[in-house]
Amino acid sequence: MFSRITGIGGFLPGEPVSNDDLARRGIDTSDQWVTSRTGIRFRHLAEGGQSASDLALEASRRALAAAGLAASDLDLIVVATSTPDFIFPSTACLLQSKLGNHGATAFDIQAVCSGFVYALTIADKFVRSGSHRRALVVGAEVFSRILDWSDRATCVLFGDGAGAVVVEASETPGILSSALHADGAHHGILSVPGSICGGKVIGDPFLRMDGQAVFKFAVRVLAEVADECCQAAGVAPADLDWLIPHQANIRILEATAKRMKLPMEKVVVTVDRHGNTSAASVPLALDEAVRDGRIVTGQKVMLEGVGGGFTWGAVLLAF
Ligand code: ACO
Repeated sequence: MFSRITGIGGFLPGEPVSNDDLARRGIDTSDQWVTSRTGIRFRHLAEGGQSASDLALEASRRALAAAGLAASDLDLIVVATSTPDFIFPSTACLLQSKLGNHGATAFDIQAVCSGFVYALTIADKFVRSGSHRRALVVGAEVFSRILDWSDRATCVLFGDGAGAVVVEASETPGILSSALHADGAHHGILSVPGSICGGKVIGDPFLRMDGQAVFKFAVRVLAEVADECCQAAGVAPADLDWLIPHQANIRILEATAKRMKLPMEKVVVTVDRHGNTSAASVPLALDEAVRDGRIVTGQKVMLEGVGGGFTWGAVLLAF
């Protein structure tokens, strides 16, 4: 028994917000600085009333439609998010309710920007074990809610959005290999260190990052884990048709491609228009490249995540 992606959907809230728009809103930055350091030109920001489960719902409906399934067909729902609607219940349960599914296994995964790759790997293992047959795997984030909008070094980097895939049991392999890692020793370089106690936020409720440390760590582990996944599947990196790394920064993507000796023509890039949407970035990029016809049946696609924890991982697909 194998698992295979049979439908993909994405959703970005509202209109694109440019770097100049942010400057006009009072952030002390410029299009030149943000574009040259990160490649980011636009991001989407959720409206006040829109939560992660709302964005997840739109992406999930599109993925289900692409797979030709109804929500009632699902027996597993996994949502990767670091910006859940509530402390509990899980965003997966809220999404399940909005979709109108009753009884499927549903839970959240918290691995920050590696969340989608973690969630997809877990769904693959459920399906391959034979316990579940039709899974919905979602990355959904409203990072705009945890940004310190007075900290120009971080607030320009992120955006909101959701991406979803349907994973079904299959007699032919779709997911060829996967690898997940973490090293909590590096928890301090990217975190939202606040907590809630006695009805109050204790500590700092905003995203804090050592940008240069994150940069170096991300480039090293993205190249290593892609290699590990290729070796596990017996696929040479040069034979990959597409690389979809977590969309944090164009310079991280370029450095990863260079280490893997892949041309940038094989790398799907959305960070310029989406910013960093954390757990949503990989499925949003996959959705875009499938819908515009770049990724077609039979191709080999490497998905990669890296994020707070620190966590990292990769999934190799035969699409
Ligand atoms: N606009 C204008 N100037 C800015 C801005 C901004 N938005 N942000 C910072 N600056 C200024 C700083 O104040 C500083 O000015 P100074 O020299 O007068 O003190 C100067 O720019 C340089 O600041 P640095 O923080 O040293 O800038 P750096 O070159 O390291 O670039 C960046 C910062 C883009 C964050 C870089 O470190 C990076 O790309 N890191 C990767 C981190 C990343 O992408 N994280 C995403 C989340 S992690 C993940 O998803 C895995």
